[in-house]
Amino acid sequence: MRITMIGAGYVGLTTAAIFASLGNDVTLLDYNKDKIEKLKQGEVPIFEEGLGELLEVARPNLTFISSWGSFNSKTELIIITVGTPMKENGDVDLTSVEKVAKSIGQKWSNGSQPIVIIKSTVPVGTTYRVKEWIEEELKKREINQEIYVASNPEFLREGLAVYDSLYPDRIVIGTDSSHVQDLLKRLYSPILNQTFSLSLKLPIQRPDHQPKPVWFVTEIKSAELIKYAANAFLAMKISFINEIARLAEKVGADITEVAEGIGLDQRIGTSYLKAGIGWGGGCFPKDTSAILNQGKEKGIEMSLVKATIDVNQKQKEWVISKLKEALGNLKNKEIGILGLSFKPNTDDIRGAISIEIIEKLLELGAAIKVYDPIAMDNFRKTYPKWKIKYIKKIEEIFEHSHAIILVTEWKQFKTLPYGELAKKMEDKIIIDGRNLLDIAPLIEAGFQYFGIGRNY
Ligand code: UGA
Repeated sequence: MRITMIGAGYVGLTTAAIFASLGNDVTLLDYNKDKIEKLKQGEVPIFEEGLGELLEVARPNLTFISSWGSFNSKTELIIITVGTPMKENGDVDLTSVEKVAKSIGQKWSNGSQPIVIIKSTVPVGTTYRVKEWIEEELKKREINQEIYVASNPEFLREGLAVYDSLYPDRIVIGTDSSHVQDLLKRLYSPILNQTFSLSLKLPIQRPDHQPKPVWFVTEIKSAELIKYAANAFLAMKISFINEIARLAEKVGADITEVAEGIGLDQRIGTSYLKAGIGWGGGCFPKDTSAILNQGKEKGIEMSLVKATIDVNQKQKEWVISKLKEALGNLKNKEIGILGLSFKPNTDDIRGAISIEIIEKLLELGAAIKVYDPIAMDNFRKTYPKWKIKYIKKIEEIFEHSHAIILVTEWKQFKTLPYGELAKKMEDKIIIDGRNLLDIAPLIEAGFQYFGIGRNY
């Protein structure tokens, strides 16, 4: 199948590489010339496990372009994967989607009838809007042709995008056309039937009992809403367990046991019940705000979504209050931050909890040192004016520090020689924002340990 994809973020790039490695002829367009140049030269511009290997397999079928000049209007399928960032007021910024839709209308060649698939996360109704934008441009060129659009939301986790693309739970297609359905079923058939053979080193192993993905066809608007509802629900699960964690701490229970105990009920399930200092990233914060605002627009008060966001905010404040409780005034206190990315195995800092915590600590006059295995460059570039020390050797973050906050659960933080490191500290306070660490050796080393919803 001949496919053009627009937007080379982690979703676009991974999806393009998957479809190309399954034998389709894929062109990936992104306006970022720098990124396209890197891709052309064989570099992988983002940190995504397994993607480098996958791109090698995909390369013979994959073309990278940075302008519409090279657009092949004989393409059968156009897939939009551009970003839909959050505006200040929590709404979705559709500038890129609109621009792409209009460009499609301007570049379309008469006679061909490609299908336009929206994979970007967009407010309900946008897929129809995309159809209108394209048709408006076509009309200007006196081309009177109805076009096909469909919504095909993605459920890829950053860092696990290749794995999630190959082994999805479901493939959701929002369309009112059987032609579109047939074509997409053909495209997805190797994944649906699990008949592909790609030997990649992926971050997690596919469980043996993993069922084949469910092919789920819906109305266009339902597909759009499924994406928001899924993310809001997952965020809600985390906020729920975080709220219970606060109670657990007060009543003397351990949240890790409570989470496991409720998760063993198959109706609840154990995933997304890890208590911590909150959820972040490029998706949950923007998508929960977006669904809240879509509700508001329609006169629906989404009180659970609102509570989900509020609880998440409180989790970040909890860290600061714990620190104040332990250290009193934070002015000139040296605080070490372990982890900057919004979760491990990514250098992405969008919506990362580290940002607000560091900002607040700086406001309170603390001296901040940070360490992250891969996200420090990104952080420095994004916050060039912040006066913080970037530490290259992890041990140095402990030297003369009054407290350490573990913000991201990078695996390597679990096995640091805490006994030795404690000796370098001014005050031995550790806030384990992800319940990653073994408590007993820390206590033995003289640490005052604060976890989330745990007692010891
Ligand atoms: C999320 C969804 O999980 C994907 O299904 C979706 O496709 C994607 O957003 C998107 O909309 O594109 P992602 O943002 O990569 O994926 O992050 P997750 O791995 O889901 O984690 C989100 C946040 O929740 C992280 O800050 C993580 O630390 C936190 N989290 C996750 C917890 O605090 N506890 C948990 O039990 C799980």
